[in-house]
This record gives sequence, structure tokens and C-alpha cells, in this order.
Amino acid sequence: MAHYPTPHIDARPEDFAPTVLMPGDPLRSRMIAEQFFEGAVQINNVRGVQGYTGTYRGKRVSVMASGMGMPSMGIYSYELFHFFGVKNIIRVGSCGSMQPQVGVRDLVIALSAATDSAYPDHFSVPGKLAPTADYTLVRTCADLAERRGARAHIGTVLSSDVFYGEDQSYLPESERSLARWGKMGILCVEMESAALYLNAARTGARALTLLTVSDSLLTGEALDAVERQNSFTEMITLALDTAFELS
Ligand code: HPA
Repeated sequence: MAHYPTPHIDARPEDFAPTVLMPGDPLRSRMIAEQFFEGAVQINNVRGVQGYTGTYRGKRVSVMASGMGMPSMGIYSYELFHFFGVKNIIRVGSCGSMQPQVGVRDLVIALSAATDSAYPDHFSVPGKLAPTADYTLVRTCADLAERRGARAHIGTVLSSDVFYGEDQSYLPESERSLARWGKMGILCVEMESAALYLNAARTGARALTLLTVSDSLLTGEALDAVERQNSFTEMITLALDTAFELS
């Protein structure tokens, strides 16, 4: 825990609560602190990556942005776990559905994260790693979701390096990458969870990703700004109630 501040986080370990919520967007980080925390104090702003600590239902909790994509999530999650002693990270983000039963506005609890990224290749094992969420976090979150009657799907997501992929219309439909991942039961696509789960594994910490489905890659349906905000609020309170149960 020696080397802090790090190049990306200008804080001390004691500035962070044991559990950190991580949205991708720094403005979302500020909004979570302002709307859901009591007594929020800003603890990081390097590169505009805003981090705050405050209390929720009387317990300390932090929020800090991850940025977009696995290299960015990889940096922040590793630094939080390794240099700042953070015990739990709960990513809160959005995803695109790849299954007909996963509708926009639904929630996805990412049990595991398949990936098309080379990120896992940097941690040499003689095989393929399975980036996996922490079971206690999954169970806690799933129980709370069920009690609230939320529409939550629990399964594998795809952490992709590519947001603007090729349309692949030169391939038969069944051979396009979306269809091939879909055939393996992948619920939806996002861009960060595999790096988060691998860093939790490397450092002996715990991680969970909770997502709202913002669009469907199958139908093209997408949430408008107001609907995005409403689903976002449902997800944040579920993530914060999960954090509350952990500490
Ligand atoms: N791809 C990657 N990340 C996303 C998407 C998507 O289609 N939708 C929301 N986050």
C-alpha cells in the first residue's frame, strides 16, 4: 500500500470507504455523490476523474469514475484495490442487450464477463481466465433486486473493446460476431467488467457489475434521456443498498 498518491488518484487510502461505486462517467460520479450521499467530500479530480466519499444510510461509501473501456477501468480498479486498500468495487453502467428476453430498462447482474479483449492475456496463465464476480456481492444484490421486484437478469456479459464495430453485412447473419456471442448465452455487451473482475482476482478483492439495459442490439430500441435517468436511479439505489449490506 506504499505508493500513493498514484499517477491517477491524488488521495490517501483512508480517504476511500471499503466499497466504491464506479460509473464510467465522472459527471455521474458527482451526481451520485450529490443526490445519494450525505456529507460528500471530493477526494480525487486527477484528469477530471471525480471521486467522492460520504455516507449512505449512515455508512461510509465512495464513488469514483472508471472512464470508458478496459484500459481505463484496468488502471483505476487496480490502483483502488492495490494501493488504496479498497475491498469492494461495484461498477454501475449501461449495456446493449443481445438477447430477446433482455429488454431495455431491465437490469443485468454480471455473474461473469467474457471478452474479445487482449487484456486477460497480460496475466499469464496456461489457459483462459474466467473473469467472475464475487459470489457474496452477486447474492446480496440479487436478493435485494428480487425483494424489490426488479426485472434483473443474472448471467454472462461481453466486455468488448469495440463500440463502433463493423456492420459485418458481408457475412451471413449467423456468422456475425453478435450472433455468435448471443448463441453462447451472452446477455449484453459493455466495455469494462472483464478488467474489473480480473483485477479483483489478482488482488484478492471483490467486484460486481450492475448494468441497466440502455439499448437493444437486436431491435435498435434505445432509452431516451428521461428513461435513462429513471433506470439509472433504480440501479444506483440497488448498488448502494448492496454496499450497505457489505459493511
Ligand atoms: N456496446 C458497448 N457498450 C454499451 C453499449 C453497446 O452497445 N450500450 C451501452 N453500453
